[in-house]
Amino acid sequence: MKILVLHGPNLGLLGRREPGIYGFAGLDEINRSLAETAAELGVEIVIEQSNHEGELLDLIAAAGDEFAAIVINPAAFTHTSVALRDALAAAGLPAVEVHLSNIHAREKFRRRSLIAPVVSGQISGFGPQSYLLGLRAAADLARRSGIGD
Ligand code: DQA
Repeated sequence: MKILVLHGPNLGLLGRREPGIYGFAGLDEINRSLAETAAELGVEIVIEQSNHEGELLDLIAAAGDEFAAIVINPAAFTHTSVALRDALAAAGLPAVEVHLSNIHAREKFRRRSLIAPVVSGQISGFGPQSYLLGLRAAADLARRSGIGD
């Protein structure tokens, strides 16, 4: 079973980017933890990061052929992208939205997610653990849906 993990814009800067909010773990470190959790769960993961909305859309559009579920941190596109929301709705795969910070405890504009209504659930506020919890949830959803058997 394969799960696609998508990191949205500016997440390549983790570790240096507003560490008071996002912590000191870099993306490589988060990706290593994801690989460990994937091995524990017995799932294969493919991880991509992009700052480009269109590239994320293309990855999601192609995901149905290869993947059983998606874990996505849409980053700033969470709050702005109808296109990303539509792509996830069209993908027809279980998807989990994750955020390092608790978006509901921050600025008003971050409290609204355009993505949340079209995914299975949202995990927000646990730092890098949000990704690991998201991966566990995605693997469970995929197994229960029978996709990727
Ligand atoms: C984020 C929260 C978003 O509001 C922000 O634009 C990000 C990161 C998070 O992981 O906490 O880039 O998605």
